[in-house]
Amino acid sequence: MEEKKKLRSQEWYGRTGKDGFIYRSWMKNQGLPHHLFEGEKPVIGICNTWSEFTPCNAHFRDLAEALKKGIWEAGGFPLEFPVMSLGECSIKPTAMLFRNLASMDVEESIRANPMDGVVLMCGCDKTTPSLVMGAASVDLPTLVLSGGPMLVGRFKGKKIGTSDVWRFAEEFKMGKLSQQEFIEAEAAMSRSVGHCAPMGTASTMAAMVEALGLALPDNATIPAADSRRKVLAHMAGIRIVEMVKEDLRMSKILTRPAFENAIMVNAALGGSTNFILHLTAIAKRVGVDLDLTDFDTFSSKIPLIANVQPSGEHWVEDLFYAGGLPAVMKEIIHKLNHDSPTVTGKTLAENIAKAECYDRNLIGTFEKPIKPESGIAVLKGNLCPEGAVLKPSAASPHLLKHTGRAVVFENIDDYKAKIDDPNLDIDETCVMVMKNVGPKGYPGMPEVGNMGLPAKLLAKGIKDMVRISDGRMSGTGYGTVVLHVSPESAIGGPLAFVQNGDMIELDVPNRKLTLLISDAEMEKRRESFVPTSLPYERGYVNLFLDRVNQAHEGVDFDFLQGSSGSVVKRDSH
Ligand code: FES
Ligand code: MG
Repeated sequence: MEEKKKLRSQEWYGRTGKDGFIYRSWMKNQGLPHHLFEGEKPVIGICNTWSEFTPCNAHFRDLAEALKKGIWEAGGFPLEFPVMSLGECSIKPTAMLFRNLASMDVEESIRANPMDGVVLMCGCDKTTPSLVMGAASVDLPTLVLSGGPMLVGRFKGKKIGTSDVWRFAEEFKMGKLSQQEFIEAEAAMSRSVGHCAPMGTASTMAAMVEALGLALPDNATIPAADSRRKVLAHMAGIRIVEMVKEDLRMSKILTRPAFENAIMVNAALGGSTNFILHLTAIAKRVGVDLDLTDFDTFSSKIPLIANVQPSGEHWVEDLFYAGGLPAVMKEIIHKLNHDSPTVTGKTLAENIAKAECYDRNLIGTFEKPIKPESGIAVLKGNLCPEGAVLKPSAASPHLLKHTGRAVVFENIDDYKAKIDDPNLDIDETCVMVMKNVGPKGYPGMPEVGNMGLPAKLLAKGIKDMVRISDGRMSGTGYGTVVLHVSPESAIGGPLAFVQNGDMIELDVPNRKLTLLISDAEMEKRRESFVPTSLPYERGYVNLFLDRVNQAHEGVDFDFLQGSSGSVVKRDSH
């Protein structure tokens, strides 16, 4: 007879004498009977990012109860624990500054505690990558449960969601929308639990984990307020217990083909550019070789299939009713790696075999897509030797090949001071350049890359201009926006050398971004470059500035790449 493998949690709870007493006794103050510690029931950690400061995840205590029912039903023993929760809309100076910190919290909490498997409860933008990164560096059987998108908002008879914030802001700037109307729109937009309603970064991340095989089918699209989200949680609870018995670890799922699938699916969805940073960081945690050009190579084969904002017209809620992510994936199944293993124990292709599309306004086909161009364009050139990115599906076709005069903002304060100055020497053919918003420069690489246009050009009816920075853009943002310029200006990347009046050539079809100055002039500017002093402080920000890597490397800390496994040799007493 095959010997049953001893559960990891028994290295704590299965002990005799003093150690066993210490590991069990205090746990029993929660009213837990002794038999739960005897090694028959896998301990499932529920890694919960619930926080009232993270409104997108504020319904997670409820959702965790549904998850626990499934875990109990399957013979597991659920224990919930909190980790650092990053709310995109509240955290200053930017939630991205703390993604790596949260991932460290997650990694050490999982490794240090007696659990056999873990469910990661993720919602708002950074809560998914931070949890997946941390868990990947431990490598237990792990399943991701997302919180689901909000119901679509309605304002003045029109459907609205986060991508309208940028439109409202422009209308407010032009005096077309009053402060009172703003306040009404705020409540109308956020009318239910859940994360942002468009295919912003949160839904992009929920789709990413589904495409990677880390989540159950439909994880990405069931609305947070739909009772089927609780059913999904219940089923996730059942499945994680089985995964522990099968020893289905993260490293068995997170293989190179799974990453390729995630890139292709992101293109089909017109997902967020933040996807690039987070997927790169996750790949480096598990030792999968993935570089920036892979994002272009694999996404260029895929048109836009989902008609969801900001690349399309509708909302993630609508996408669920139309068949959800499985139906989207089915349209590109001939491009995907069929055999990739997933948390269901089945392959990706098996998971989606029965998917159906119920609405062709929402889900196009490969032959008749919503837009022919999607995915991520990776640019190279003397302005971005390590790359820069642009999302063609969010850009204006007439600007994809454009040469214009640079109008330079030295940092975010300079931009805010000048942008609406009527005397600013700028017209719609210019290229707006912002420096010092990269990982170290800001610090934390904020979502300011889709900088708002000058009021005087908005008043003329101008909707888009070429904008370039070393920062990021919200997943709900749009425009002809070049992001993630690497290396960043604050450490002497060539973006730092751009001067007002220089000509810049953007050539997306040929994947080029060029500062039109001679090599000799570039060298001269490099030699006279005086680095801006980085905002070193004590504490975490100090660590961040010392150890963070660049955009093309995923903005992770150098010392967090790779995994330390799940074994802890020493006891606590
Ligand atoms: Fe949390 Fe958009 S602010 S998902
Ligand atoms: Mg966002």
